Amino acid sequence: MPTVPTSADGVHQAVFRFRCIACGDVSDEAGQNFRCPQCKDLLEITYPRWKEARSDVAKLKSTWRERRLSSTPVDLSGVWRFRELLPALTSDDQAITLREGNTPLYELPQCARITGVPRLFAKHQGLNPTGSFKDAGMTVAATFARLASFRWVACASTGNTSASMAAYAARGGMRSLVLVPEGKISWSKLSQALDYGSVTCQLRTDFDGCLRLLQELVLRAPVYQLNSINPFRLEGQKTLALELLEQLDWQSPDHIIVPGGNLGNSSAIGKALVEMRDLGLIPCLPKLSIIQAEGANALVRTLREAGGQRLISVQAETRASAVRIGNPASWKKAVHVLEATGGACEQVTEIEIAQAKAEIGAEGIGCEPGSAVTLAGLKKLVKQGFVKREETVVLVLTGNLLKDPDFTMGFHRGDLFKGTPDESASAALNRLRHPPIVLDATLDAVIRTLEQAEKS
Ligand code: F0G
Repeated sequence: MPTVPTSADGVHQAVFRFRCIACGDVSDEAGQNFRCPQCKDLLEITYPRWKEARSDVAKLKSTWRERRLSSTPVDLSGVWRFRELLPALTSDDQAITLREGNTPLYELPQCARITGVPRLFAKHQGLNPTGSFKDAGMTVAATFARLASFRWVACASTGNTSASMAAYAARGGMRSLVLVPEGKISWSKLSQALDYGSVTCQLRTDFDGCLRLLQELVLRAPVYQLNSINPFRLEGQKTLALELLEQLDWQSPDHIIVPGGNLGNSSAIGKALVEMRDLGLIPCLPKLSIIQAEGANALVRTLREAGGQRLISVQAETRASAVRIGNPASWKKAVHVLEATGGACEQVTEIEIAQAKAEIGAEGIGCEPGSAVTLAGLKKLVKQGFVKREETVVLVLTGNLLKDPDFTMGFHRGDLFKGTPDESASAALNRLRHPPIVLDATLDAVIRTLEQAEKS
């Protein structure tokens, strides 16, 4: 077992081990593919000393709060601030950090009115340094890659993981290799990886093909994989839930709703909730629900058609390119999380995603399409009576509005659904469109436009 010092406040020693999620085998080491040597299933990180630790939760909470006043890099990070619940470092300066986390929790009054849920919040992970929730996981996984002396890190990605990995590799003095599906990720995300200096390969396949290839690569070459199969990623992403509960004064919301792609983030949030409950940090578990795009609905089908017993993969197709994933690696972890928290799993159409994205934008917040599935899903869960009208709901917005300008421009110009079977149905969204207006550069023309807008 790795030896680590007691944390500064003496509350916990976050000594960790790897545990197989299927056979429960526990080990000190993980192989390059982060799979159980016995049954080949995924590993998760476990903290054997927590059982005996008898944590002083009041002390933990006050330590985390006090760190917000500190100016050291690890305390300024909204991830490492919670380091008692993360794999331990031997010294604070080992962390590769871009001051990730500490993201805002916004109220969504207009969306609350639309859905009929009066207390509706958005936890905006798109306000992380590279514009997505991936940074919270990447700071931890990149740190452990460097501690293991890897020169190269690599990932398959629909865009956000690669942007984040490239940034943290650059900050940590490592080289990075990106595998993305050619023509299927947004320029914004691709350009981030280029700027941060990655070797960026656009492969003629989809995300699932890229991930398959990466799995083979890590067994042949000394590269450290930074996809969410890597359990250090999920430990970092747990802090989203810690931070959220801290923002809610440790009162559990009734529901947390998260998009589902490769299903790492939902697994991480669920793990955090269960750990927080077990440690006594929160009195009860919120229900964690996962929403997928209808065209990338592997988990929905896995639950409905196979009772969660075996994965039903799909050929993924959706304009929400971040979640265009048909063979989610962490599906079993996600099924466990749904069972543990009593959450639901739903799917939403392309039109519903576009509408929800515009409604979140109209709050002055905005997000990328892959995040907007949460609001679209909430509407369904309210209709089904799964979310009750008096309950408190938190949507996890995973990516920044600026991540996918093509989608946003297409929506407002009115050509997002042109030539598709959704074209006529999309007319119902016209009231949400705000297309750019080209005018002669005269005062008259601008005043006329203003007057027209005032009437509409
Ligand atoms: N939202 C956004 C904005 C994403 O980029 C992703 C995944 C998800 C939701 C789904 O999260 O995979 O943990 O279930 N993006 C990937 C990537 C996989 O490569 O950037 P998940």
